[in-house]
Amino acid sequence: MTPDLMDEGARRAEALHARPVTGKTESGGRAAAFSRPLAHGQVDVTHGRILYLEEVCVSFDGFRAINKLSLDIAPGELRCIIGPNGAGKTTMMDIITGKTRPDSGTVFFGSTIDLLRYKEAEIAQMGIGRKFQKPTVFEQLTVFENLELALKTDKGVKASMFFRLDTGEGDRLAEILHTIHLADSVNRQAGNLSHGQKQWLEIGMLLMQDPKLLLLDEPVAGMTDEETARTAELFLTLKGKHSLLVVEHDMGFIKTISEKVTVLHEGSVLAEGTLDQVQADERVIEVYLGR
Ligand SMILES: Nc1ncnc2c1ncn2[C@@H]1O[C@H](COP(=O)(O)OP(=O)(O)OP(=O)(O)O)[C@@H](O)[C@H]1O
Ligand SMILES: [Mg+2]
Repeated sequence: MTPDLMDEGARRAEALHARPVTGKTESGGRAAAFSRPLAHGQVDVTHGRILYLEEVCVSFDGFRAINKLSLDIAPGELRCIIGPNGAGKTTMMDIITGKTRPDSGTVFFGSTIDLLRYKEAEIAQMGIGRKFQKPTVFEQLTVFENLELALKTDKGVKASMFFRLDTGEGDRLAEILHTIHLADSVNRQAGNLSHGQKQWLEIGMLLMQDPKLLLLDEPVAGMTDEETARTAELFLTLKGKHSLLVVEHDMGFIKTISEKVTVLHEGSVLAEGTLDQVQADERVIEVYLGR
């Protein structure tokens, strides 16, 4: 074979392996086309849903932690999820983000992206951001550096070595600093922030990647009353621009931010409605609120 032909073959092999992450499926064929997003960064919400779970089941060593769970989230919605300890709230987030694989059921992002076909990192890149309960900011870095780093992680190692914020990114960083109430603390070391401020910074880091859906697990746990009130304000600002799924036990906080509330119990939806409606539901009082 001539060197030319060998080069050409190498180029083709490389092109074959350099398919975009989105659209990649393990099975291929017709199902693969069905799962392909519209274009990079776009999610098809023409059916009025950003997230859709149907009949999802997960067992751990024979214990059904999630049991035929079905859920529908609209674009821009702020949905609150409540329920007793062990109801499956965190496990539900693990399933949406690809950390836990369900045994059966359907999980879609928009109407075309079958999330069960993707890995955790791919799901994050598609625009699903997750905030765990414990803040995980870089304590040695400043507020600014933490936010800047959140952009870099999106760009790969080589690009991030020569990374400079462009004007658009700089503007976005400034806007986010304001949104998360940290504009006055831009040069403070993250380790010196209060617990609440660290939580806001981590939310800001997620916002830098402009997620379409944000999953927040017990975001106000450990916050002061004032920090909790400001977090409520923050979430109300984010609603509409992003879809939010908020798990919380703090009923005062839920009352301030909630539209529709879903009550989980033993891995399934026990009740759904406004907070007043679910609080008046006898079954909810018995398993959760009346404790
Ligand atoms: N990796 C795992 N292995 C075994 N059991 C698990 C695992 N993850 C969750 N569970 C179990 O599944 C059930 C649901 O747990 P999960 O953490 O989702 O509840 P939760 O609603 O988030 O509760 P909380 O309000 O206390 O945070 C619990 O009984 C838990 O012990
Ligand atoms: Mg939990």
